[in-house]
Amino acid sequence: MAFEENTKPLTTAAGAPVVDNQNSVTAGPRGPVLLQDLWLIEKLAHFDREVIPERRMHAKGSGAWGTFRVTHDISQYTKAAIFAKVGNECEMFARFSSVAGERGAADAERDIRGFALRFYTEEGNWDVVGNNTPVFFHRDPLKFPDLNRAVKRDPRTNLRDPENNWGYWTNLPEALHQVTIIMTDRGIPKSFRHMHGFGSHTYSLINAAGERNWVKFHFRTQQGIENLTDEEAGAVIAADRESNQRDLFDAIERGDFPKWKLFVQVMPEADAATYRFHPFDLTKVWSKKDYPLIEVGEFELNRNPDNYFQDVEQAAFTPANLIPGISFSPDKMLQGRLFSYGDAARYRVGVNHHQIPVNYPRGAKVVNTYHRDGAMRVDGNQGGVPGVEPNNFGRWQEQPAYADPAQAVGSTADHFNFREDDDDYFTQPGNLFRLLSADEQQRLFENTARAIKGARKETVQRHIDNCTKADPAYGEGVQKACEALGAL
Ligand code: HEM
Repeated sequence: MAFEENTKPLTTAAGAPVVDNQNSVTAGPRGPVLLQDLWLIEKLAHFDREVIPERRMHAKGSGAWGTFRVTHDISQYTKAAIFAKVGNECEMFARFSSVAGERGAADAERDIRGFALRFYTEEGNWDVVGNNTPVFFHRDPLKFPDLNRAVKRDPRTNLRDPENNWGYWTNLPEALHQVTIIMTDRGIPKSFRHMHGFGSHTYSLINAAGERNWVKFHFRTQQGIENLTDEEAGAVIAADRESNQRDLFDAIERGDFPKWKLFVQVMPEADAATYRFHPFDLTKVWSKKDYPLIEVGEFELNRNPDNYFQDVEQAAFTPANLIPGISFSPDKMLQGRLFSYGDAARYRVGVNHHQIPVNYPRGAKVVNTYHRDGAMRVDGNQGGVPGVEPNNFGRWQEQPAYADPAQAVGSTADHFNFREDDDDYFTQPGNLFRLLSADEQQRLFENTARAIKGARKETVQRHIDNCTKADPAYGEGVQKACEALGAL
């Protein structure tokens, strides 16, 4: 309902007139309230249930509606209908977030930023639930709950704890790449508009001939990269804890629609077996020299949600929202995520969360599922259509034409140790360090020292040792900054 239309009389949820919204019913002018004050009871009871669980990670975020447009032809790689023709468009929804903070956290914190996109295509919802960094801390989904506990509050002090955090990170040397990125200038984007986004994982593209290519998705900000130093961020937070929400909302309200260009890196399927980096290792990037960026399209965010709770809080993204022509890869982390998000959505929003407008496949030509019943089913529940398949009417049949091509996988089940398969933790963080200017390196040292201060000495030393393995100058710089700050 539009704001201006809010002039109608007030009713209860059942539609009866509310006679008094100021004074509860009491026994006499100074007496206690009566249980028969139905409106008071209804109002309090509803209020008592208004909060849904916050997202376990990425609880603080901002969302907006937008439009995606295909600008270049990649139909040789994917049969996805959205990419069939240059000029194709679809509606989309984006949610940006920080990771560790709770729903009330300040925006300008040093942290990864979530970069979750949903494209409402004619073949269903396609979600890219990425971050503003191309890599992640670890490579096995078994470690994700541990990571969560490392960056969240200590169970006893209820404070974020450098030792819990850095003790964990430094014991996983593969985390150094991600940790390095967070400790650089990019660790605090000036706003959501001023950062790139990455699908991060390796996904796959499948074309009409049934050929598979591996793919990485990159979303490059057209506003330019801008960041805040620790000092600037401190000043921003002191004046405004909602700086990113405000920036995104205000930009869209004034018609300054933020834009990102979509690029892909494409790796032929067979290359995966021989590429010098493990192509499904989420702690590594693919070299752009080996697999250059190919421009594909652009999206702009052009509409603020009318109601934050409805569209943003209830949005339930999942990397399992894939469409024909875009699929997953054997990346173990991605495989874990394919399960975890739908599971979280069923808990956080409910089994019928897909009915909520932001989650509904609103662009799809057809939505026919046999899912039935469950709490809060309000879409007609498929009416009188019997929920039986196979049936004698050819009703709602499977569509084998859309199957992914078969894929060869290993033949022995075991707890395989990724580290034995690929223990090069340090080449890429070292390369990143060497790309930074001297000023940027200095800020990396100092940001690290401020963040790690409070961790045990052995943890700080382990981090210095890891940095030294990436580049001796990296280790030395962090050591000096830690000494100067009394962190070592
Ligand atoms: C949010 C699990 C790794 C990006 C979430 C949520 C869960 C989760 C349960 C809350 C979802 C909800 O309540 O709606 C996991 C697991 C991971 C993992 C189990 C590893 C095994 C990653 C990675 C990325 C990522 C690698 C980025 C590349 C996000 C984003 C959100 C999110 C952007 C917020 C989505 C939104 O805006 O609603 N994750 N996550 N996660 N995760 Fe992950």
